[in-house]
Amino acid sequence: MEHLISLCKRRGFVFQGSEIYGGLAGTWDYGPLGVALKKNIEALWWKRFVLDREDMFGIDAAILMNQNVWKASGHVGGFSDPLVEDLTTKKRFRADHLLETNAIDPRGMTLADMDAVIKKEGLKSPDGNALGDVRQFNMMFQTNIGATEDESSVSYLRPETAQGMFVNFKNVMDSLHPKLPFGLAQIGKAFRNEIAPRDFIFRVRELEQMEIEYFVNPSDASAVDSIFNALYDQQYQFLTEDLKLSTTKIHKIEIDANDRAHYSSRSVDVEFDFPFGQKELLGLAYRTDYDLKAHMNASGVDLSYFDEETKERFVPHCIEPTFGLGRLFLAVLSDAYAEVGVEGDTRTVLKLAPALAPFKACVSPLLKNKPELVAKGREVFMNLKKKFGAISWDDNGNIGKRYRRQDEIGTPYCIVVDFDTLGENAELLNTVTIRDRDTGTQERIAISELETFIQSKLEL
Ligand code: GAP
Repeated sequence: MEHLISLCKRRGFVFQGSEIYGGLAGTWDYGPLGVALKKNIEALWWKRFVLDREDMFGIDAAILMNQNVWKASGHVGGFSDPLVEDLTTKKRFRADHLLETNAIDPRGMTLADMDAVIKKEGLKSPDGNALGDVRQFNMMFQTNIGATEDESSVSYLRPETAQGMFVNFKNVMDSLHPKLPFGLAQIGKAFRNEIAPRDFIFRVRELEQMEIEYFVNPSDASAVDSIFNALYDQQYQFLTEDLKLSTTKIHKIEIDANDRAHYSSRSVDVEFDFPFGQKELLGLAYRTDYDLKAHMNASGVDLSYFDEETKERFVPHCIEPTFGLGRLFLAVLSDAYAEVGVEGDTRTVLKLAPALAPFKACVSPLLKNKPELVAKGREVFMNLKKKFGAISWDDNGNIGKRYRRQDEIGTPYCIVVDFDTLGENAELLNTVTIRDRDTGTQERIAISELETFIQSKLEL
């Protein structure tokens, strides 16, 4: 992790939030290369789950919502983590994490169970002090809207993007008239006042989610089951076919009833082997009609669906595939990170799939001080850049150093314009060398074929 975090900072993937002021715990800023990688992940997700399908529609809801949304959804009452306080230092910890670090599995435990175990085992805080009682800590960030600061102006930074889709269910029905089953999809920020943000961008206070609320007719339980399983398969395909994550690091976990979110009647998580252990990457939850019914009751607005064929009216059930963008980013980076070579002469390589790499190729002139090479190199660079956008130019240092720099940020191909390109060897006029990041092999290719070559790699 240390090497990866250092690479992220050094090469402009991820910086500590508010760094020049000493940082702000649980916040991270994405730099130019990080933004490129994040947008590539988003684009693949949007393509697979929205653009390639007829039954998914995009939404982009406001982060701030009427406080009644969060009362109805159950988040004001129940969106909390178990908190325990060091009685001497007043530092606060997640009770379940404290149990885990003492080799006690907290899965399935209620608040009272955790409290009882901590007392029975005489567990101390990480600083060696006595602990208080375990209690609930609500993770929503509360704020006030407008100039008055009273109960009526209270709002929250959304802790999940999901509610923006439930409260727009009727708007989409009335404007698009989609038939069941169909899904709403959204990518956006969410905020959680995590007691203990940790593991780099894994557990943060400001995060990005990519969520789908998929609405189904609940009358046939086995059909609902099939849709649930198909959505899981599609999540898995996204991880393995689009993000190219190692299949051996992906684990499917059925969540016990006691550990499910308050709205879920079945949850399956995908856990991933991060460098710091096997942890939750994403989830799939059967939210039933919990949310639509809760909003119907609280708002008084009818959120039922009328089936024209069967002439039945009912409240649809919802299955939710949810993805944390930062966690996917970390999974991709940690899976792609490699140090190759022999001791004393290692190089770092990010083995990113071309579709994910911040730059698809880097163009260089063999020598920086030969204007004719630079001019031809710039021409090749600009033409590729017009087509792909994500192409870099590097004329610093020698070729070996340039290759190392590009390997470290995952650029799959390095293109070099040399004297043969200019016709020193007539047979090689208008050809360039292209080097493969992972094999280190170089081949000669006509400039006119570069576009097709790169395009074909992006589609692999
Ligand atoms: N709408 C359902 C929902 O929000 P969740 O399991 O609480 O479910 C969904 O969160 C996903 O969001 C998680 O699987 C994870 O990828 C990501 N996530 C949740 N909390 C996070 C945090 N504090 N930091 C980073 N990602 C987080």
